[in-house]
Amino acid sequence: MSPLPVVRTVPDLRAATAAWRRDGLTLAFVPTMGALHEGHLSLVRQGLARCDRVIASIFVNPTQFGPGEDLAAYPRDEAGDAGKLASAGCHLLFAPTADEMYPPGAATVVTVSGVSGPLDGEARPGHFAGVATVVAKLLNQVRPDVAVFGEKDYQQLQVIRRMASDLDLGVEILGAPTARAADGLALSSRNAYLTEDERRRAPDLAAALAEAVLALRAGVPVAEAEAQALARVKAAGFGPVDYLEVRDAGDLSRMGPGPLPPGRPGRILAAARLGRARLIDNMAV
Ligand code: PAF
Repeated sequence: MSPLPVVRTVPDLRAATAAWRRDGLTLAFVPTMGALHEGHLSLVRQGLARCDRVIASIFVNPTQFGPGEDLAAYPRDEAGDAGKLASAGCHLLFAPTADEMYPPGAATVVTVSGVSGPLDGEARPGHFAGVATVVAKLLNQVRPDVAVFGEKDYQQLQVIRRMASDLDLGVEILGAPTARAADGLALSSRNAYLTEDERRRAPDLAAALAEAVLALRAGVPVAEAEAQALARVKAAGFGPVDYLEVRDAGDLSRMGPGPLPPGRPGRILAAARLGRARLIDNMAV
């Protein structure tokens, strides 16, 4: 297997993608922050199923981390990631420096109101402005036909969909199902922070959400299903739970407290701390 070509500047990226576009090839893009796992590789495979070429990026974006968050500790392994991307069939890696992405004087921030507001928007102020800004830049730099994002970061996916539509970016935003370990834990680069004991308890978050989904589908009121799931998560030893809520699957407005109205797709979303890790998960209801 030949090594994955890596470009680090926007002009080099543009040269590579322009050549493909001249040849009439379609481009899929998978933006990441590295520390890649099977979930990321499944996004690459989704891209390959839709387009002729897949470009991935690795950039640990400082503007989406708040003060006191894990920017410095975030796992980094570019060489290992490049090997995984190559074996998944990726054609090009864009791995810019922070100066390439945010040259001195950069002053533009993309904010998306509405969907950015609740949940992680409250728990991590400024996070979605950082995400929307870097994703808008990456989409302009790569100019793909399709960009693939995991549903694990469901609120992020909705923010990016809104932003791409509002800014007429002309790219199809594809949501890919959450990849899970055999015991149900959603795959995440931050799972690396879990101790052995925490890793054994971590799947309780997904189990609590799955139980709530069944209860909601059986007509249990939203407030009751949320309370039961919250109690299970706390009993499993999770620390502060930032949120565990049923929301409208599109605009993320609050649903409940009564039973789910028929025909309105919902999503149950949770974020909770387990030791050093802050785990997030969500499911369709
Ligand atoms: O989901 C991620 O890894 C990041 O938020 C993204 C989309 C690459 C933007 O930095």
